[in-house]
Amino acid sequence: MRKSRNERLTRVGPGTPMGNLLRRYWQPVGVAVELDEEPVQKIRLLGEDLTLFRSAAGEYGLIGDRCPHRCMSMEYGIPDERGIRCAYHGWLFDPAGKCLHQPFEDRVNPDSNFREKTPIKAYPVAELGGLIFAYLGPKPVPLVPRWDVLVRDDLDRVVEIHELPCNWLQCMDNAADPMHFEYLHGEQGNYILKKMGKPPAMVTTPHLKIEFDVFEYGIMKRRLLEGEAEDADDWTTGHPLLFPNILAVGNVGRPTLQFRVPVDDVNTIQFAYRTSVREPGAAPKPMTMRRSDLFNAEGKIIADNVPAQDMIGWVGQGPISDRTQEHLGQSDKGVILYHRLLDEQMDRVAKGEDPMGTIRDPSENEPSIDLRREGRSLRSFDSKYENAFDKVQRLASAGEV
Ligand code: FES
Ligand SMILES: [Fe+2]
Repeated sequence: MRKSRNERLTRVGPGTPMGNLLRRYWQPVGVAVELDEEPVQKIRLLGEDLTLFRSAAGEYGLIGDRCPHRCMSMEYGIPDERGIRCAYHGWLFDPAGKCLHQPFEDRVNPDSNFREKTPIKAYPVAELGGLIFAYLGPKPVPLVPRWDVLVRDDLDRVVEIHELPCNWLQCMDNAADPMHFEYLHGEQGNYILKKMGKPPAMVTTPHLKIEFDVFEYGIMKRRLLEGEAEDADDWTTGHPLLFPNILAVGNVGRPTLQFRVPVDDVNTIQFAYRTSVREPGAAPKPMTMRRSDLFNAEGKIIADNVPAQDMIGWVGQGPISDRTQEHLGQSDKGVILYHRLLDEQMDRVAKGEDPMGTIRDPSENEPSIDLRREGRSLRSFDSKYENAFDKVQRLASAGEV
């Protein structure tokens, strides 16, 4: 890859081609249950420093981090019925960024219109499925995609957040590369278990074929493993990479969405939105979330579970992978296809067109967008919906891995 193309694919700041493309999609920026605890949060998204808040009336807002008065960070702000007040001198901003009150100015001059000259940058925010999404692109604002797992009422949900010191594209390239399962999860996973004195738990079945089909919301990825029949749903169905930065994984019993959200050029936050189908008649569990630190005291990632294994793949390529040094083979055809799709969609945005997956018609979005995914395959172990990934997750949560 040419250096210029690598830069075009990876740089996400305002005004860059990829920054412009990613700004056309709603991105998760927070979790509602976390704002119950702390209603004002400093965030960084696509190279922009911002403050996410929930007003005292329960309305969400996402505004610039610096108060237009004397540049105090709004992360110290005080939620108000009408928005948020800067902690320093109390200027009040509504979720649309309008300055509604300047305590001293308004007191000494009740006719002051100074506040009309001091709005703060603000972006649209929406809550869906317990996640808070933001849109940093141009108007008209598209609809928030109602992916099935965000809106189904038969699922219990846990959100896990990881902060990753690497460019977002490394996380997504991994999603277009099924073959890594054999080594990064299989051989490497078993090697780690062996070092911990534990028996192997991972399958290392060879991939015989991999295939990728572009569809309206991204790329369906399929694989055929040795010993599987061609009617195995790994091969007939597979699961989708949702363009541009979501992987839908898991299976029909435990569907998951992994949002790889670019913080800036060299940092990414993953929101892993894990769900499980509730037993019939069971009471719904309240949604929970956790933030997990990847690194141990020595600054190393211990890759003894599937998500951490993927993360060593992402972080291990460096802050921004130098793709001028890569040697892509047959196993990388999904990555090549995905990059081409990104190029095409950046070109569309540059021409003023909507990129793929932009949803403006409510009939496309309501009641939800159902995603196909595999249910059961040769990779399954002992229960109806458990595949190798699930088994390791189960062992990990039981402290066995
Ligand atoms: S710096 Fe924000 S009100 Fe003064
Ligand atoms: Fe993986």
